Amino acid sequence: MNVDAVILVGGRGTRLRPLTLSAPKPMLPTAGVPFLTHLIGRIREAGVGHVVLGTSYQAEVFESYFGDGSRFGVEIDYVVETEPLGTGGGIRNVASRLQGERALIFNGDVLSGVDLRALLARHEEARADVTLYLTKVSDPRAFGCVPTDPDGRVSAFLEKDPDPVTDQINAGTYVFERAVVESIPAGRPVSVERETFPGLLASGARIVGYVDLGYWRDLGRPSDFVAGSADLVRGIAPSPALPGPCGEALVLPGADVAPSARATGGSTVGAGCVVGPDAVLDGSVLFDGARVAAGATVRRSVVGFGAVVGEGAVIEDAVIGDRARIGARVELRAGVRVWPDVAVPDGGIRFSSDL
Ligand code: GDD
Ligand code: MG
Repeated sequence: MNVDAVILVGGRGTRLRPLTLSAPKPMLPTAGVPFLTHLIGRIREAGVGHVVLGTSYQAEVFESYFGDGSRFGVEIDYVVETEPLGTGGGIRNVASRLQGERALIFNGDVLSGVDLRALLARHEEARADVTLYLTKVSDPRAFGCVPTDPDGRVSAFLEKDPDPVTDQINAGTYVFERAVVESIPAGRPVSVERETFPGLLASGARIVGYVDLGYWRDLGRPSDFVAGSADLVRGIAPSPALPGPCGEALVLPGADVAPSARATGGSTVGAGCVVGPDAVLDGSVLFDGARVAAGATVRRSVVGFGAVVGEGAVIEDAVIGDRARIGARVELRAGVRVWPDVAVPDGGIRFSSDL
């Protein structure tokens, strides 16, 4: 197929801190493998064999994991922005690497089941300049709000509008004609959402929407990150790249889970993790080398690389940074984030703010 895939992975992932201090968001383990592995697998399944990664923040991490892409069945090129160029600038910056006449462009943090071949077919049949994959969410304010005419043509693009006119949003995957990529100004930061799309609409370009109401989630916030990982493990979100047998939980080789511990809700237990007797893991992600002691409960949370949760502790809707140590019987809930290497002493302390 004469189509390239471009994945924008240059963001700093600030909403996922402190997890994104050690790795860029698209490289965080999700159902046991770096998130991007799932997306690249879906791209390959759609018959696209050439992938360009537009990197900036921690650029080297991508290449050291994915290499030339051959292990993943695709050819991967890397284009590094020494200063982040924004989403539009990132797209423009890869123009010289495109081999075909059009490109599928992806935000690097979206989990979705959209039919990529059907998206491309819609683009071709509509003879569009750009086709946007659109979905619907209950609260569109955190996204690009994208109304369409009855014939499916995009009529406006309103990024992060506090008062959205529709619940239809930009799902973060586009088809661009190569000429449109080349029309974006080079060498300076450009937002595709705030500058390119409104500019193209004003100039009369043909931008059409492809609405798909199947599975969709942006993994940019901790609650979505854990939910997306759990959906992959439970088979609710499709991926050809799951690393092992899934279901209620995914336990990677080299993890040691006590027989009386319970892992449910699509939890992932990373390599080298130790989970003690009677511990409960529900809808959570344990990065490699994490330890959860006897009788502890971890729900809808992330436990970072090598972090420790003490005996009888309760962790709910929280993010534990790498190598942090949570003492016995400590309770952390409701969005608490613990920074890497922080030690929270034993004792039935309840925390509701960041540590
Ligand atoms: N190369 C490069 N350079 N990539 C970047 C840059 C940059 O300067 N800035 C952000 N990115 C990448 C991020 O790594 C991410 O994969 C993608 O662009 C989108 O950035 P986010 O920071 O995740 O944006 P968002 O979630 O707030 O909003 C975007 O996605 C929504 C759908 O998930 C927008 O496109 C919205 O319109 C959209 O609704
Ligand atoms: Mg995002």
